[in-house]
Amino acid sequence: MTRVLMVCLGNICRSPLAEGILKSKVSSREYYIDSAGTAGYHVGSLPDARSIAVAQKYGIDITNQRCRQFSVADFKRFDVIYVMDNANRRDVLRMAQSEEDRNKVKMILNELFPNENVDVPDPYYDDDGFEQVFQMLDKACDIIAKKR
Ligand code: 4NP
Repeated sequence: MTRVLMVCLGNICRSPLAEGILKSKVSSREYYIDSAGTAGYHVGSLPDARSIAVAQKYGIDITNQRCRQFSVADFKRFDVIYVMDNANRRDVLRMAQSEEDRNKVKMILNELFPNENVDVPDPYYDDDGFEQVFQMLDKACDIIAKKR
């Protein structure tokens, strides 16, 4: 069982999409996948309606998800922690307690563009950004799904 955590700032736009997309590509017997946000603004909320809509457009239902905040315990509960951007990476690494913890943290778009540390743009203030974010995450998750 590989345990994968997707992390963004709010856990309502990007990481819920990443969670839903990767779940759609792998077996739940082989993967446990979750998502979380570095901030706690939206804890308990559904994903953003625009993320729900773009996922639905591609046949993925993310309405079972509820926002939660990333915590130190997640370093022990997950094998890989994919962050969406450089700010998420900084915030997560600040909570790491060991080299083992730090080594779990990866920029998700480094799967597509190795070592380039490209951000998944935050679509929160950009209604048109959700389609682009979906396409980026879909390509990255294709690569992640083929890894193991
Ligand atoms: P996310 O987007 O990190 O992709 O979930 C955001 C959601 C909410 C806020 C910022 C980014 N916010 O400031 O409330």
